[in-house]
Amino acid sequence: MTDDVQKYKIIFLGDQGVGKSSILNRFSQDKFEQEYQATIGLDFHSKNAIINGANVRLLLYDTAGQEKFKSLIPMYIRDANIIIVVYDVTVKDSFVHTSHWVNETNDLKREDAIFVLVGNKIDLDDKRQVPTKEGHSFANEKEFIFFEVSAKTGEGVQELFNNNIFPEMAKKFKIVGDDEDENDKGNQNTDSQGHNIKLDGSEEKKKKKGGCCGGKKKDKSDENPIDVPNPSPNPTPNENNL
Ligand code: GTP
Ligand code: MG
Repeated sequence: MTDDVQKYKIIFLGDQGVGKSSILNRFSQDKFEQEYQATIGLDFHSKNAIINGANVRLLLYDTAGQEKFKSLIPMYIRDANIIIVVYDVTVKDSFVHTSHWVNETNDLKREDAIFVLVGNKIDLDDKRQVPTKEGHSFANEKEFIFFEVSAKTGEGVQELFNNNIFPEMAKKFKIVGDDEDENDKGNQNTDSQGHNIKLDGSEEKKKKKGGCCGGKKKDKSDENPIDVPNPSPNPTPNENNL
């Protein structure tokens, strides 16, 4: 059976405990776990989405922040279309380390990869150590998309994807649906089991205040999306319904 749906690979990077898995869980299943369960090695999820009227499959790679698993990351960077570097707004070091995470990808990444800087845990405002403007100016300087979110409350998470990442993907990877009508549906998404998850940005905005600061990005929009090979990670991640 052939599967010709376009696939886009998204990798999450960042220090241990910044909330990579939590953002991913909020985005793909609208759920949040308070209890910390460190990612071991790497986790894999897939999620269907409609971007600019086209059905696409997002392949989501959730890396572990722990140092001992770092050697696994490079092989996933190579094919990543979108690289999301996460820091915790209440931990200054995690922001300082975002430069290291970015530098480590530089020699490996696709030339047209979209970089996204995300400050997480904005619900903990009284503990904030990284002002929004610091994140914003770092992202501006590097021409990354920038957004602040709370995986816990959900604030900003859907907007991050719907209003920032998806439009940039549509532009850079020239994603256009066949069916004109699809364009009126907004970004309606399904999880890997095919359940619909409403991700329309305007609806989301009515419910939540939103994150912050859609950033700037480079425009090198000339390449097609990769055909993502089956990953063969070690240890093996959960490859749900690829
Ligand atoms: P590793 O897998 O070890 O790299 O960590 P991670 O980056 O995946 O972090 P994870 O998502 O496991 O979250 C770490 C802890 O932070 C957990 O206890 C989460 O409940 C908590 N957490 C994540 N996001 C938020 C948030 O937005 N607000 C608050 N208050 N806590 C959060
Ligand atoms: Mg994790």
